[in-house]
Amino acid sequence: MTEKDYSFIKQDWEKRIMTYPGMTREEAEDCLKLAVSLVEKGLEKFTHDFPDCNTENGRYPVSENREWTTGFWTGQIWLAYEYAKDKQDKKAETFKTAGEIQVESFLHRIEEKVDVNHHDMGFLYTPSCVAAYKLTGNETARKAALLAADNLMGRFQEKGGFFQAWGELGAKENYRLIIDCLLNMPLLFWASSVTGDESYQEKARIHIQTAMRHLIRPDHSTYHTYFFDPRDGSPVGGVTHQGNRDGSAWSRGQAWGIYGSAMAYRYVRDKEYIDIFRKVTDFFLENLPGNLIPYWDFDFKEGSGQSWDSSAAVIGVCGMLEMAKYLEKDEAEKYTAMAGRLLLAAAKECRVKSPADSDGLLLHGTYAHASPNNPCQNRGVDECNTWGDYYYMEALTRLVKDWELYW
Ligand code: GLY
Repeated sequence: MTEKDYSFIKQDWEKRIMTYPGMTREEAEDCLKLAVSLVEKGLEKFTHDFPDCNTENGRYPVSENREWTTGFWTGQIWLAYEYAKDKQDKKAETFKTAGEIQVESFLHRIEEKVDVNHHDMGFLYTPSCVAAYKLTGNETARKAALLAADNLMGRFQEKGGFFQAWGELGAKENYRLIIDCLLNMPLLFWASSVTGDESYQEKARIHIQTAMRHLIRPDHSTYHTYFFDPRDGSPVGGVTHQGNRDGSAWSRGQAWGIYGSAMAYRYVRDKEYIDIFRKVTDFFLENLPGNLIPYWDFDFKEGSGQSWDSSAAVIGVCGMLEMAKYLEKDEAEKYTAMAGRLLLAAAKECRVKSPADSDGLLLHGTYAHASPNNPCQNRGVDECNTWGDYYYMEALTRLVKDWELYW
């Protein structure tokens, strides 16, 4: 870093992060090449089947197409397809064929309503089917993704103005939104764009507005989930599900806030979402430990011995790289520089180097960590998870080329 190049870096925490090297395009290319080779290896196990949410002792259990995470594996296949195609490598056909097999599974899943009684239609159908449609014009993928968008629309609650995340619709104990859902909204903007039916994006805009109004705390940390009163939609309060406590900042939730606010701005173009992006991103960056990989909750600091969540780092990187497209030069450079530093740190600390080490791409994630103040049991602690692998690959792809989003 030279003062001249980065004179707009003012805060001490910004200066601290800028002392780290950032990832170069060549380094990103090397990491992506390795990731693509690991995905190719993964196809041996996961073409007709899917990896489960997280590895267990470094290996993904084989799963049917269920849970909220299978789309991330198909998304990795599509990113590998793009990489191979750009290189005019005939392996592109192998990835395409595998992606198409998985798309059929996603159509079956939504038609038969297999584990789709929740809001995560975007996580499932954007990197799998919207990606397939955008990249190859696959009509089965279009059909499946539109059915998924319709399914999500059924979870909209007029009272409160939000998509209910989980559980029986309208039940008091389930009447809440969660910050992660900001990443389900691009599916609805896509559905409006391909059908001309504005109702999808109208509901998405209302949900985004509600989420932004209630999830960001005065100190710019975020609630994971927020309850409303089903009788009249009035706000009740923020509660954690996967964080350390109701008032803490679950690091992946904060990262969903970074990428979610970038997506909100991408689609809605309300400058308020740029301001929210700055706030939640700066909270995230300022609270990073020395190695730039967040602990699973920002309650935990250097020396806490708690597990990291590498997936939060790479989700945040993708959000910063996306938002940089819409910012003035100095700010765009600042967030691009921060993203490059986090990505290099994640690659150095967490990258899987060989299939002998793990089935995944990015080590040291945490799916859920038990706490006396949350309902979770330990799950996928210090393991790879499919979304960490996916967003790591997406982040690398964003550095390597001018990437057309699936989202
Ligand atoms: N969307 C659920 C999670 O981030 O664990």
